[in-house]
Amino acid sequence: MGFRPPSEKFVNFEVRPDDAYLITFPKSGTTWMKEILSLIRNGGDVDALKGTSIDMSIPQLELVVTDFPGKDKVSEMLDITPDISLTSMESPRLLCTHLDYTSLPTQLQGNKKAKIIYLARNPKDVAVSTYYFEKLLAQQKLIKSGKTYDCFSDYVVDFVNDLANSWGAYSGMHWHDHAMEFWRRRHDENVLFLKYEDMHKDIRSTISAIATFLDVVLEEKSLDAIVANTSFEASKKNLRTLRAKYCKYRLGVDPETQSPFVRKGKVGGWKEHFTVADNEMFDAKYQEWMKDSELEFDFEL
Ligand code: A3P
Repeated sequence: MGFRPPSEKFVNFEVRPDDAYLITFPKSGTTWMKEILSLIRNGGDVDALKGTSIDMSIPQLELVVTDFPGKDKVSEMLDITPDISLTSMESPRLLCTHLDYTSLPTQLQGNKKAKIIYLARNPKDVAVSTYYFEKLLAQQKLIKSGKTYDCFSDYVVDFVNDLANSWGAYSGMHWHDHAMEFWRRRHDENVLFLKYEDMHKDIRSTISAIATFLDVVLEEKSLDAIVANTSFEASKKNLRTLRAKYCKYRLGVDPETQSPFVRKGKVGGWKEHFTVADNEMFDAKYQEWMKDSELEFDFEL
């Protein structure tokens, strides 16, 4: 896949004032949030989503708007219908992207109307989560560099230096720049900046805050249904969040035990992967990245 540089179609994508965009760096809890957003928008109707595709509920711009080699196959595995049209999608649309701020469609940059929900995650857990995804892609020979990343310590060096290659599709994107571009805009009326770790701390309040931001009034019982049906355990049994077909046919794994979209779902899993040396190297980089920033993360709970 090659999304970058973004195609002309992508850059010129027509944004509607009542659109809402979920924007994340890969492996920051996108899938979890997509299911939450789908349920907020349909009032917590879990049954209505059964048998449908999460990638149709909230299409990912770069997968749908951009043409890339193998697009038909990938779309089929994600159950995205070939004739999907974002132009004929009913308003208000829910859309998402992993692309960084400067790569967004022109009409979305500086837009003060279309809503943006930015979800950030501590970069040590992002590195571990991308590592497992990258390994699966490597096993399927889907990594251009041919690296296999047998060892996390090799991977984490590439991660901090933007050389981790599964994101060939997103090449050159840096976790820090990605997060900071939206952190800087966190006070804009149309931006809601959230953290994966805060979802773990209080998912109910997070869901309420998102509903308010989207101007959706949720009854208590709808809120209960959303909390219950987006828990980690529920996500592990949900074919939408597991992306079952994609796991089976693209990654060659059993979705129920090895889906990289619902894997461990923890804060602090990095501690089981980083050596002391990895951690020192990462901390030094992290301090450089975050110097002069008030953005802070929980690295464990
Ligand atoms: P881990 O690999 O650390 O387990 P994305 O959807 O952006 O690819 O992010 C995937 C990450 O979100 C994975 O992290 C996955 O386990 C986690 N995740 C998915 N569903 C979750 C849920 N219901 N609760 C907590 N974490 C979840």
